[in-house]
Order: sequence, then structure tokens, then C-alpha cells
Amino acid sequence: MSIVLTQGDITRLAVDAIVNAANSSLLGGGGVDGAIHRAAGPELKKECATLGGAKPGEAKITHGYNLPAKWVIHTVGPIYRGRGDEAETLGRCYENSLCIARSYGLVSIAFPSISTGAYRYPIEEASIVALQKIDWFLRTCAYYPMKVLCVLHSAHDLEVYIQTAKKLGITYELQR
Ligand code: APR
Repeated sequence: MSIVLTQGDITRLAVDAIVNAANSSLLGGGGVDGAIHRAAGPELKKECATLGGAKPGEAKITHGYNLPAKWVIHTVGPIYRGRGDEAETLGRCYENSLCIARSYGLVSIAFPSISTGAYRYPIEEASIVALQKIDWFLRTCAYYPMKVLCVLHSAHDLEVYIQTAKKLGITYELQR
């Protein structure tokens, strides 16, 4: 399985799970978090309220409610401060989200570019972490047929991911 790179609105994807770039309360916010909660409806926040929050790097799953996606995997990315420890935390967001998806038997999962908005993670650096971790997971679990999409919200961000995949020699499929 290869990674699919695409531009669009993650709330519109009919995949098994979309990943939410949440904050530690898991009770909603702006950006993709706000878009997902708006599209899912109020039941999502009710279920999130039972989860007890999450630490940076952790991931927790809920139903998708009014979303076309069946599930939402909420993960808390690192706030970028240039201290050097953010990459490890960001990597755990991707790894933990993928492992939860596998444990639920899901075969399609879509990620936004975690932490590259309000949390100010430079997208060039974040794309390296994201693509390396997803590629590692797909190679490690080659027996498990999971389709992983990186959904970028702008043409610029999509181009950054394309250039990073090329630099890293990671196979990708472009879905326009
Ligand atoms: N579909 C796909 N990607 C989106 C969408 C969308 N509908 N909306 C925004 N994005 C992109 C942004 O362009 C950015 O590249 O998601 C990426 C992550 O940006 P944020 O949503 O700001 O998330 P993050 O940087 O991880 O900050 C998380 O912001 O919204 C709050 O509650 C959230 O406190 C948390 C913080």
C-alpha cells in the first residue's frame, strides 16, 4: 500500500477514520478540530467529554456521527517551540493513530497535517516526520492492507508533501 497525497477538506472524506488535530481537552477548537466538530455534530463533543482528555502524542477514538467517516481519531500534536523535542511527539501522533486504526480493523485513514496550523510546526519539517512515520508503518505492517491519506488544505501544503516524499524516496499516489 502506498500513501495517498491529496488536497481538500478532511471532513468530506468517506474513509474508515479521519484524524483530528485536537488540543489536550479533546473538546473542540478551531482549525481542522473546529471543522470536524461542526460537521460531526454535537454528539461528537459529548463522546469526547467521556475520554478524559489526552496528552501530546496520544490518540483516542470516537464515532464519526454526522461525518461521512465512520470514526474520528483525536490526537494532540506538539506546539512547536523549536526546542528539538517536537518531532518525537509528532511522530507518536501518527504512530498511535495508525495503531488504533489497525486495532479497530480499519483499512482507510486520513490525516491532516498535524500541528502545522495554530501549533506552528513548520510544514516542511512536519511533512518529513509524517511521511517517514506513515511509510515506516506501512512497511512494518505490509501484511495489513491500510490506505493512508494525507489531506492537505492548500495547494502549497500539498506541494510541500510531494517534494518531501520525492526527497525521501517514499512512494506516493497523487489524488487530485
Ligand atoms: N481539512 C484538512 N486540513 C485542514 C482543514 C480541513 N477542513 N482545516 C484546517 N486544516 C489544516 C490546516 O491548514 C493545517 O495545515 O490542518 C492543519 C492543522 O492546523 P490546525 O487545525 O490549526 O491544527 P494544529 O496546528 O494541530 O493546532 C491544534 O488548534 O484548532 C485548534 O483545537 C485545536 O488547539 C488545537 C490547535
